[in-house]
Amino acid sequence: MSEEATSRKLTELAKRRGYFFQSSSVYGGVGGFYTFGPQGASLKGHLEDAWRERFSVQEGNMEIDAPTIMPEPVFESSGHLDTFDDMLVDCPECGESHRADHVVEDATDHEDAEGLPIPEVEAIIAEYELVCPSCGAGLAGQAVDDFNLMFATNIGPGDAQPGYMRPETAQGIFVEFPRLKAYARNTLPFGVTQIGRAYRNEISPRRSIIRTREFTQAELEQFVDPAGEGPDCSSVADVPVRLYPIAEQQEDDGEIVETTIGAALEDGVIADPWIAYYLGVAREWYETVGVDMDRFRFRQHLPGERSHYASDCWDAESEIDGHWIEIAGFAHRGDYDLSKHAEGSGERFTVFRQYDEPQIVERATVDPDMSYLGPEFGGDAGAVVGALEDLAATDRSAFDGEVVEIDLEGETHAIPVEHTGFSVDEETIAGEHVTPHVIEPSFGVDRLLYTVLHHAYREDEVDGEARTYLALEPEVAPTFVGVFPLQGDAALEAQARDIVAGLRAAGLAVTYDDSGNIGRRYRRQDEVGTPFCVTVDYESLEDEAVTVRERDSTAQARIPIADLAETLTALRAGERSFAELE
Ligand code: GLY
Repeated sequence: MSEEATSRKLTELAKRRGYFFQSSSVYGGVGGFYTFGPQGASLKGHLEDAWRERFSVQEGNMEIDAPTIMPEPVFESSGHLDTFDDMLVDCPECGESHRADHVVEDATDHEDAEGLPIPEVEAIIAEYELVCPSCGAGLAGQAVDDFNLMFATNIGPGDAQPGYMRPETAQGIFVEFPRLKAYARNTLPFGVTQIGRAYRNEISPRRSIIRTREFTQAELEQFVDPAGEGPDCSSVADVPVRLYPIAEQQEDDGEIVETTIGAALEDGVIADPWIAYYLGVAREWYETVGVDMDRFRFRQHLPGERSHYASDCWDAESEIDGHWIEIAGFAHRGDYDLSKHAEGSGERFTVFRQYDEPQIVERATVDPDMSYLGPEFGGDAGAVVGALEDLAATDRSAFDGEVVEIDLEGETHAIPVEHTGFSVDEETIAGEHVTPHVIEPSFGVDRLLYTVLHHAYREDEVDGEARTYLALEPEVAPTFVGVFPLQGDAALEAQARDIVAGLRAAGLAVTYDDSGNIGRRYRRQDEVGTPFCVTVDYESLEDEAVTVRERDSTAQARIPIADLAETLTALRAGERSFAELE
């Protein structure tokens, strides 16, 4: 079975069994929007819960929930209005729009067309005589344009207050930094998490829920002191990782580096200890939710591929259909976002770093002689004072000579140094205001969900019959146990319903199914990935025991009803194995 066949079958199963399907299809649907059905919504919720537990609760981080629409100044400052673009090329024949970099990457050896300037992409399209992927018409000579990916809207009536659907949840955290730092008692490092929807008006959404226009992110913004110590990486030092760093990608025969987090940090393959720490945490966490570690790697972004705010970035990638897809990014955003929002809002986006001991520093100041500057510069005297203050703060050697030169609207003025009141004094200071740096682990929940389903997809044969099942981890499976009365018999049904109520009261996700023969009911649960099924038969009425069947092995064990909830809870927690019960 080819990988493409797996994807096709998975998409069909997802629709038939209620994992996900295209939204609004009664009106023809529109590309890039999906609804998660009963199974999908449950799986997604379990993945989000597991992420929250690991990246928020276990790390001691704070979670927030911000609006998805934000006003324009946010995105002027963040850079998204200017730079959050993809390259668009329109087909002259069918009018279909395509991502120009994807057209290039799909039909040539160029692997990083996204990082190329537009004229180069136009030249490649012409040189290779690339064609429209929809109708085959030539695209040579067509203009490639920047297309901003944000969905625009108006807040309130009229168009006086433009707003945008957030393209990343991160901005909802950054703009609240002045308040959040107070909740963190003004102490670095601290982390803030958020799970929520983000929106990107993709030119060509594709590959099912892998590239959609509305999606869920789980993001962690770790605020750190740029001069501070990194995290304690000892808990992840031995975590094995497969890395694809820039240097290997740039070699013709570049290879995946099999190493550990500790060794990669020591060798400098991963430069930043915070990034190394979260790669280690993520690698372990992904395994617990069912990502196949033989189909998983971390790839470092090539320089041209990085987002406008990032100085370094590693993607977590999973293998789907023989392609590697990004399922998380671990970016070093430096002080980009906080500095931009400080500049844009005029608010303070810093944290006060208290020194261990107060320090004595030299401070250069000016006290200009206004009886000289006033007559000399008239209305510009205030600007001259400002220029002198800036110069004293940035270049005290400018005051070494007899005159000080300042620039005022492109004109140089010489001011006798004796009229500047320049002096250098000692001052005792307790600390300084620093703009934190941000390390951002950012997870795509929809892509993770797709990966988990794809990596769990299995086909085998049971009792001579073909079977499809999803080997989902019990922790994330939408339903944990299916309960069936063997036949349509009132006594069996009553006992089965009692069992359902008991298991639900114990906190387990249970489904009751009495339709069709027992084999069909097992197949139905196998297909949605339910780890265990319980069958109530005539013997159960006598011996107060039921048959429990495990999904993957199809092995069965007889368990007393009185022990059922406790046994299943222990199986769910991994405290017992099914083999012990058989
Ligand atoms: N916050 C990172 C991203 O949305 O790509």
